[in-house]
Amino acid sequence: MKHTLTHPFYRVTEAAAIAGFQWLGRGDKNLADGAAVDAMRRQLNTMSIDGTIVIGEGEIDEAPMLYIGEKVGQSDGVQIDIAVDPIEGTRMTACGQTNALSVMAVAEAGTLLHAPDMYMEKLIVGPQAKGVIDLHLSLEENLHLISQALQKPLSALTVSILDKPRHAPIISDLYKLGVRVFTFPDGDVSASLLTCFPAQPIDVMYGIGGAPEGVISAAAIRALGGDMQARLLTREQVKGASPEHQHASIAEIGRCKAMGLTLGNVLQLDDLAKNDNVLFCATGITGGDLLEGIEVSGSSITVHSLVIDGQQRTTQWLKTTHRLTP
Ligand code: FBP
Repeated sequence: MKHTLTHPFYRVTEAAAIAGFQWLGRGDKNLADGAAVDAMRRQLNTMSIDGTIVIGEGEIDEAPMLYIGEKVGQSDGVQIDIAVDPIEGTRMTACGQTNALSVMAVAEAGTLLHAPDMYMEKLIVGPQAKGVIDLHLSLEENLHLISQALQKPLSALTVSILDKPRHAPIISDLYKLGVRVFTFPDGDVSASLLTCFPAQPIDVMYGIGGAPEGVISAAAIRALGGDMQARLLTREQVKGASPEHQHASIAEIGRCKAMGLTLGNVLQLDDLAKNDNVLFCATGITGGDLLEGIEVSGSSITVHSLVIDGQQRTTQWLKTTHRLTP
């Protein structure tokens, strides 16, 4: 297994990032995503792995490629679970904004949570606050526990949270509590990881985002020694009871049942990523807090990637220049 995770998976996120980058600032997130999905799948299929997509672009009937359950690789290696988000930040890519990434996580078969594409409440902290968070408690109670663990007052604590209308009351409560709040428009994988880098100012990532992004983040948090708890939520719970959201929620509840998941249960880090033998890779598409973006110079493309290995307990920052064939 150790051997399998040493495959150069960063080549997969590199390929997806470069393909998505071709659509940077073209206003079409589907074309950007489609190009990245295609490139990621092509690269995965060249590898000596027996991979199963457990987090992907959706179910087989809604995603022609990298659908949940799709087999990838040459089927001649050890069996592995693969969670992908070819572009984390499709809107940012389409609009030429910062913080767009290509991300994936790889783990032993059966060790990553198999979750449908729905919403997830997430509470994430770095290694120093590992073991103190509990989503059964209120956010305020959690923040008190985290501030004790980090030995700093609430006023010195920084919480990052997606800047979405659903979070407005939470953000105003956080201000009242006296914590510092960093909001960001999209991209909670990057924000989640920043809790585990001591040089970064983020202590806590909280909020409701995508479940696929949640499982990929969990793999990285596991590998970095941080902590995470989560709860799957239906579209109706997050966005209100319109007929459209109710319809989507019925389908989500059905998918959860089929995958053996109980809605509303608090998921521990062990439920999301069962052991430390996980590998996380990300490549920047546009520059952000985690990674620099793609640079084009003449016929060369330079990409910046991050590889986090939970088994080896290593974090690598890679800068790679691809010389394009004329
Ligand atoms: P995409 O990769 O699909 O563009 O997701 C970006 C993102 O901001 C995620 O980081 C986050 O988890 C999710 O969207 C939040 O979803 P919504 O935009 O529906 O609130």
